[in-house]
Amino acid sequence: MTTLKQNSTQNIFLIGMMGSWKSTAGRKLAKALQMEFIDTDDEIEEMMDMKVANIFAEFGEAKFREMESAYFVEKAKQKGILFATGGGIVLNEKNREVLKESGKTILLDAAANTLAQRIHNTSKRPLLKDSENLEERLQSIREKRHPLYLECAHLIVETDILEPPQVVNSILTLLDLPVEKY
Ligand code: S3P
Repeated sequence: MTTLKQNSTQNIFLIGMMGSWKSTAGRKLAKALQMEFIDTDDEIEEMMDMKVANIFAEFGEAKFREMESAYFVEKAKQKGILFATGGGIVLNEKNREVLKESGKTILLDAAANTLAQRIHNTSKRPLLKDSENLEERLQSIREKRHPLYLECAHLIVETDILEPPQVVNSILTLLDLPVEKY
């Protein structure tokens, strides 16, 4: 088991679009690094006792972004946490500052057609639920956000041709840590 001593003093943030495997790979990576794992969407859902889709429907996106940022900025003051963030985390300037300055931020990148193939349930994702063409919708969101993802990322993993365990191994390699066997 790999342990990353330096991670008790720093955070790791996984950023990227919906379907980029932040949560799936993040859970495995946290296990490999023996770090606390936080999925920001799960935490907000638990705090509100509501699904993200229902928060969007009832309170709107702007309110969700406020909740997301309030939670994220406060939680990131702690150290040693591996965060799988919501795809829109980079839209908020304060969040971007945290990503740039409070740990190591890793962008899990993928093309829109890859993301479209991975996303099966759009009802869970309010920004996608009414889209007639999923790939086009993802492409348009990705185009707007990509500069923000790049602005915040210290490391980038292209995930198009990778499965989640390989994403984890790529991250471990980039962090210069021994690669796990899965
Ligand atoms: C969003 C991504 C979702 C969730 C919400 C908004 C986005 O998280 O936060 O539906 O704006 O990209 P995932 O990236 O984990 O799907």
